[in-house]
Amino acid sequence: MLYLDNAATTGVRREALEAMWPYLTGTFGNPSSPHAFGVAAAAGLKGARETIARAMGKRASQITFTAGGTEADNLAIKGIALANPRGRHIISTPLEHDAVLESLDYLRRFHGFEISMLTPDTYGQVSAAELKELSREDTTLVSVHYGNNEIGTIQPIAELARATSAPFHVDAVQATHLPLDLDVSAISISGHKVGAPKGIGALWCKAPLEPVIHGGGQEKGRRSGTENVAGAVAFATALSLAREEQMPDLSGFIAAALEIEGAQLTGHPNMRLPGHASFVFAGTGAETVLLELERRGVICSPGSACGSGEVSHVLLSLGFAEDLARTSVRFTFSASHSATDVDFVARALRDSVEAVRNSFT
Ligand SMILES: Cc1ncc(COP(=O)(O)O)c(C=O)c1O
Repeated sequence: MLYLDNAATTGVRREALEAMWPYLTGTFGNPSSPHAFGVAAAAGLKGARETIARAMGKRASQITFTAGGTEADNLAIKGIALANPRGRHIISTPLEHDAVLESLDYLRRFHGFEISMLTPDTYGQVSAAELKELSREDTTLVSVHYGNNEIGTIQPIAELARATSAPFHVDAVQATHLPLDLDVSAISISGHKVGAPKGIGALWCKAPLEPVIHGGGQEKGRRSGTENVAGAVAFATALSLAREEQMPDLSGFIAAALEIEGAQLTGHPNMRLPGHASFVFAGTGAETVLLELERRGVICSPGSACGSGEVSHVLLSLGFAEDLARTSVRFTFSASHSATDVDFVARALRDSVEAVRNSFT
């Protein structure tokens, strides 16, 4: 089986597992404990924080470990909005992950924030010019993702960040292979997208933050709860390895897929996440195409792993008709895939769409 759903999650890397093992067994102390076991665990956590900060080109003291990307997004959005008294206005995009959209909705419903949405173009990119227009003196936060999980489009973050003076949060959960030394205020990342276990993530943030989880004051009071030391150590190892890797070239795969009748690439043709290819196939259904692909040894996804069964809010925001949006298929390769694998998937895709079309006629 070829697993091509790496945007949903990845397997744990052997190196990450080996790095975390001591912190689950011999060095299992609570990093807040003053004794030798605690001190050893605290040293592991410090090392992980430094490694992640280095990979991001940021200061270790500004990294907060969380239980994943969703929590990092919640902390960034609620934490920055509630700690910064510029006003109650936030700018974002309709293409964000639900972790962002639902946090914004919470601020709107319970704290009276006004949310303005940028209008994406047909490729899913938003513009600095519109951001400049929407920015106000009372804009407390701008939140724009770096790479889209469903359509793979990369946002022009540097340009966008220059267009506003408000704190700028970037959800980089899908974009940890891209440069992370962005000149912004906060960046969310998640371990299980790069070969660490599920349940560990991080927020780099240089802006004041109101905590979302209250308790014992760990993580400098920004995120209470005993830290997941082993997860943090695995995340640091996995992130460092991921950033050295090269994803397979998908230009031939995309070209071959577009020769299939009714095929259309979703997202930007060039400004795409490495290893990401997503399509709609008019006149088919994603579920049946996915079943045919699986029969041929290819595992991929209908768009996003979250909210499955629902029509993609991303594709609807880009103006796709509901019927067409229901035919979306996403392939997210990993660095372990060879050019031969890519060719195999291209053939399996052509045969699968053909089989579905034949079953409809
Ligand atoms: C863009 C984006 N943000 C946030 C998340 C949530 O991350 P996690 O699964 O670590 O909670 C995901 C997960 O797919 C994502 O793709």
